[in-house]
Amino acid sequence: MALTLFTLALALPAVLALENGLARTPQMGWNTWNHFGCGISEDTILSAAKALVSNNLTSYGYEYVIVDDCWQAPARDPSTGAPVADPSKFPNGIKDVADQVHNMGLKFGIYSSAGTYTCGGRFGSLDHEEIDAKTYASWGVDYLKYDNCYNEGRAGTPKISYDRYANMTRALNATGRPILYSMCNWGEDGPWNFAVDIANSWRISGDIHDDFDRYDDRCPCTSILDCKLPGFHCAMSRIIDFAAPVGQKAGPGHWNDLDMLEVGNGGMNFDEYVTHFSMWALVKSPLILGNDITNMSNDTLTIITNDALIAVNQDPNGSPASRIWKRTLPEGGDLQLWQGSLVNNQFVFALMNTSPNPQTVNVSFTDVFVDQGASYQSGTFTLYDLWQKDPSSGAWGLNLGDFTGSVPNVQIGTHQTKVWKAIPVSTSQKRDRAEL
Ligand SMILES: *[C@@H]1O[C@H](CO)[C@@H](O)[C@H](O)[C@H]1NC(C)=O
Ligand SMILES: *[C@@H]1O[C@H](CO)[C@@H](O)[C@H](O)[C@H]1NC(C)=O
Ligand SMILES: *[C@@H]1O[C@H](CO)[C@@H](O)[C@H](O)[C@H]1NC(C)=O
Ligand SMILES: *[C@@H]1O[C@H](CO)[C@@H](O)[C@H](O)[C@H]1NC(C)=O
Ligand SMILES: *[C@@H]1O[C@H](CO)[C@@H](O)[C@H](O)[C@H]1NC(C)=O
Ligand SMILES: *[C@@H]1O[C@H](CO)[C@@H](O)[C@H](O)[C@H]1NC(C)=O
Repeated sequence: MALTLFTLALALPAVLALENGLARTPQMGWNTWNHFGCGISEDTILSAAKALVSNNLTSYGYEYVIVDDCWQAPARDPSTGAPVADPSKFPNGIKDVADQVHNMGLKFGIYSSAGTYTCGGRFGSLDHEEIDAKTYASWGVDYLKYDNCYNEGRAGTPKISYDRYANMTRALNATGRPILYSMCNWGEDGPWNFAVDIANSWRISGDIHDDFDRYDDRCPCTSILDCKLPGFHCAMSRIIDFAAPVGQKAGPGHWNDLDMLEVGNGGMNFDEYVTHFSMWALVKSPLILGNDITNMSNDTLTIITNDALIAVNQDPNGSPASRIWKRTLPEGGDLQLWQGSLVNNQFVFALMNTSPNPQTVNVSFTDVFVDQGASYQSGTFTLYDLWQKDPSSGAWGLNLGDFTGSVPNVQIGTHQTKVWKAIPVSTSQKRDRAEL
């Protein structure tokens, strides 16, 4: 009956994506930049790859090991024009590192900029797309993060940005090697509109900063929709605000990238990192770790291995959650309600508190199921709290029982996010915990 109405809505034609077969669910992995910046070497990459395996992070889906900026030598090969790695950091070359990463069962990613130079001042790939893509493929590269520094002014309209980035799409495709294309033009010219069929993901904003909500003039825009200076030092919760309108543009093979994770880097507390990880998971951002995974606290490991949240991020529907409401509070900050649909007529919703005080909230199903209509709004759902563990199995997702009409009197701490999975009771008896 009413349950089938929503199934029909999901049958709308899918938007075409880049046809390289990759990132059908958001990519997961680790990147050097947020923790190590330019201070990288062969050892940084190989130690991280080993830690991904030894900490069992690979079983959770983290698979790409990505070298960000500053791997390059001072200049290209003078005779061939091919890119060359810094011999002091990578004495055995990039291919050797990629081979070792592959031998650990992982995939290998690299970085460049669609400009004359990279952001760290190394040689960029603008007008060298073909030779760079070919060289990366010969090294066994599986992933390219492609930045936007020193772009020689080749931005300003979607068409100009499209041409610059699509050139690399063609160059990567021509290598014959499937290489995940992670565009990083900071949201300039609206990649959610123009990059859907040329990239697997695109950054939506300036760079993240390991901070919950501090405003910084270097990230001056209040919205990304008409942003003239994406900048950097964007606090984590500001990027969640930026992401709210553009969820509608993402899907399998083409994702909004909210930037790499800061979980474990020390600038936020446990609840704030839970908010960070939860919201990146719900809106289907790539989950690229950015901490030192060779030296993690238990709290950090706990957050990044919440497999109930990871399952939301990797849900085969690929449907990003959207914001239902945002209520500004007199004491500063706000409460936000987000909801998304999952496979098998299941749902996820989250309540986030960015205010300085704890809050008590009745979460109404009229709001949670605003897109699903009256029969859902008056329906009964089994709710699982995805940040609590089942005491008998130890698995993430505590069964809170059946709820009709609302979740009353939710106590939510400052900077905290609570996430629930909702299963309609009419079908819940048939489901077992394995699907959580
Ligand atoms: C190149 O593009 C074509 C068509 O767009 C696609 O079928 C093919 O799989 C792509 N190859 C790679 C390696 O991405
Ligand atoms: C590794 O992760 C998998 C997948 O979540 C889990 O089932 C398994 O118990 C973990 N193993 C160890 C040794 O932690
Ligand atoms: C793409 O880049 C190559 C250099 O790698 C250049 O020769 C070519 O003109 C570019 N094509 C477009 C459409 O910008
Ligand atoms: C490991 O992490 C701890 C706590 O953050 C820090 O004090 C220590 O310096 C780190 N060790 C290394 C080798 O980075
Ligand atoms: C993590 O917790 C275990 C016990 O659960 C403890 O033995 C270990 O020392 C802790 N590690 C850190 C880095 O706190
Ligand atoms: C939640 O609803 C209950 C009863 O429906 C009411 O007594 C309570 O005041 C409400 N709480 C808030 C925070 O609105």
